[in-house]
Amino acid sequence: MDMKEFVYQGPDTGPEQGAVHWEAPSNIALVKYWGKHGNQLPMNPSLSFTLDACHTRTRLEFFQSGGSMPVEVLLDGQPAPSFEPKIRQFLERALPFQPFLKGYGFRVHTHNSFPHSSGIASSASGMAALALCLMDLERLFAPGLSAGQFRRKASFLARLGSGSAARSVDGGLVLWGTHPGLEGSSDAYGVPYPEKVHPVFQDYHDTILLVDKGEKAVSSTVGHGLMDGHPFAGARFEQARQNLDRLGPVLAAGDLDGFVDLVESEALTLHAMMLSSSPSFILMKPGTLAILEKLRAFRKTSGHPVCFTLDAGANVHVLYPAASREAVYPFIQEALLEHCHQGHHICDRVGRGARRLAGAGS
Ligand code: PMV
Repeated sequence: MDMKEFVYQGPDTGPEQGAVHWEAPSNIALVKYWGKHGNQLPMNPSLSFTLDACHTRTRLEFFQSGGSMPVEVLLDGQPAPSFEPKIRQFLERALPFQPFLKGYGFRVHTHNSFPHSSGIASSASGMAALALCLMDLERLFAPGLSAGQFRRKASFLARLGSGSAARSVDGGLVLWGTHPGLEGSSDAYGVPYPEKVHPVFQDYHDTILLVDKGEKAVSSTVGHGLMDGHPFAGARFEQARQNLDRLGPVLAAGDLDGFVDLVESEALTLHAMMLSSSPSFILMKPGTLAILEKLRAFRKTSGHPVCFTLDAGANVHVLYPAASREAVYPFIQEALLEHCHQGHHICDRVGRGARRLAGAGS
């Protein structure tokens, strides 16, 4: 893949010091990314809803320094040295595309809107927020970037930190991964889903049920690695491509029954891959299964097109159209919260994407 368009080639003098400030959302995949190759490139295309309430705010202070890129990370104002290796690795990966970074030291102030120990991955929103800050720094060197170039390269850089972070720059439905017939799609960065989308999906709700707040049982690096040599890998990658094709008319028509079928099948397939890998992982908890069963029974009796999706963990994302909220949310409160860790849940919905924040100072 030709990455030359992303190599910075502008002036090599920039600001002595300053600060930039961005908010980037989390996202939840409808068609899942599981399996990668090369430099964080996906084995199949994926599609996600951008979230709104779950986001990371990052303020990046930069100052000219001797060339060793010193990094300090503060989470909610407190030193967080355990985050530093990951951020340093991210900066090293960004360096070939932003050679001017070498001259700076960095202080990263970061805040997640969701609790750090909630079991919700902060890497997508965190890496996207940092990538957007790096792009703002690039813009101080070369102000001529168009908005489109800025967001595309931000997604490209975010991907180097965490694959799914490529989908945390734009809003609405975001596509990451080359797919024939989907214009502008790329393995290198995410783009707004380029096809027609029925308005019902613009305001979809996602109530995230926090079944287990522990550390992830399988890191995503290990998880993606499990697809290398997995007996079902080829069929899975092909299925994801087919599901993306099948989702097209579903999204265009607002076919909610079709949406339910596809989205749940993707979630269960992701877990099926882990259940059948070597070594194998069981990431659902008894509470997860109880929620899935109750949710399906509720759908059958009530007729509301509510469905679930899962990440690589025990938590459940309950997806439903805004018009079903009055029926679905009371059901969640009465029947599902008992399976959550201390009843914890987050009411989220589809969001509009990352935004620059005021108050960066200098
Ligand atoms: O971005 P990573 O490397 O943490 O991978 C995320 C993979 C899933 O969340 C399980 C699926 C997805 O497409 O987001």
